[in-house]
Amino acid sequence: MEIAPVKGTHDVVGQEAAEARYIEMVLSSVAELYGYREIIPPTLEYTDVFARGTGSSSDVVRKEMYTFLDKNGRSVTLRPEFTAGVARAVVSGKLYATSEAPIKLYYHGPAFRYERPQLGRYRQFSQFGVECLGSDAAEVDAETILLAMQAFQMLGFKDLHLKVNTIGDAKTREGYRAALKAYFGAHIDEMCDDCHERLRLNPMRILDCKVEADRKIAANAPKIEGYLSAESEKRYYRTLSLLNDFGIGYEKDEALVRGLDYYSEIVFEIHAKGPSGADYGALGGGGHYDGLIEQFGGPKMAGVGFAVGLERIQSLMKEEKLLEEVPSGIDLYVMPVGEGALEEAFRLTEAVRLLGYSAETPFAALKMGSLFKKAEKRGAKFALILGDDEISKGVAQLKNLKTKEQKEIKLDDLEATLDEAFGEEGHAE
Ligand code: HAM
Repeated sequence: MEIAPVKGTHDVVGQEAAEARYIEMVLSSVAELYGYREIIPPTLEYTDVFARGTGSSSDVVRKEMYTFLDKNGRSVTLRPEFTAGVARAVVSGKLYATSEAPIKLYYHGPAFRYERPQLGRYRQFSQFGVECLGSDAAEVDAETILLAMQAFQMLGFKDLHLKVNTIGDAKTREGYRAALKAYFGAHIDEMCDDCHERLRLNPMRILDCKVEADRKIAANAPKIEGYLSAESEKRYYRTLSLLNDFGIGYEKDEALVRGLDYYSEIVFEIHAKGPSGADYGALGGGGHYDGLIEQFGGPKMAGVGFAVGLERIQSLMKEEKLLEEVPSGIDLYVMPVGEGALEEAFRLTEAVRLLGYSAETPFAALKMGSLFKKAEKRGAKFALILGDDEISKGVAQLKNLKTKEQKEIKLDDLEATLDEAFGEEGHAE
């Protein structure tokens, strides 16, 4: 009986995998431009990492985690996001003591959330993100947003929508939560069950509710602006003025509170719509946080970061035709003409690979038409054609499959000839 993939997961094969790798590669190199180094944290953490770090009032922790007991009876969780795990790693590895601050780390890999699968929403998805820890400057918040915008630009996106908000410092949030509690308390009977729970745990979460009737009620809720402490306000406008200096456009969105508990001060999200108008949800989001490292037993250390959803980016890039140039085929298809050339073609294919060019050859004599069809299916850039005649003269025919140009090459000069041919065309991978 056929076994289907787990609901909300998918296989990424061939060209799609090449595109996914390309996106990760571009994002990683932009992070490196900003001085970030890679961290590869485990996929599995003790549940406490997320319960404490990501936060018990977030939907992610309350409803969406893949949590189970290991064989020793300890509760473990497949990471629903990276930030809490990275903070845990900084404390476990005492990076705060051994690395020069700020500690700048980037990461990518799978994350898991038990959500209802739909367009742009999966149960296993991939994130790329950065965390900068150990500097409290508003400039670092601005630099992180610049990095995010630069990364999207490097991928070729033109029409991005950056939303920003501040949720203020702890003092701000205390006052604001009390105001929201009073406001939503008066409307709670008309609101969804989840909002009842949110009102109890953290009324700011209600601003994030997706239920249409609740959104209408939330639209008239008190705005945070009136509750901001003087320090939070100053810090927010400092970051915004830096974004202005760099020509980064943004929309201030007071309903933006983000779904995770660790944030403090500025938060942001990046949205984009493709030509089809399909809404994949936010491409990425992040913000500033203060208490995370301390929560794991480290020193008081501010942080800021963001993560993007790689599947959403890939879908949108596909729509915008930004992935057409990602190569997937092989460099050369070696074509034996007739039975007598099979063995020499096999040898030549291996020699080509050792020169650093990807190559394949069939292991059976085929008609020329079939050979070219196979080369096309493999996405080969060049064909290297070898018959009895060529073998006796120590040559082969090198055919550029795009321009159809063909020339005879000496097998003794194979390396130099291929370097020259691919110097003009570039490698496949
Ligand atoms: P987040 O907004 O929960 O933030 O996730 C970041 C991005 O991951 C989203 O904008 C979205 O593109 C993608 N994503 C989330 N859930 C799914 C899903 N079920 N399917 C597909 N894509 C999804 C965080 O995770 C924070 N850790 C970001 C951060 C880093 N904040 C500070 N540092």
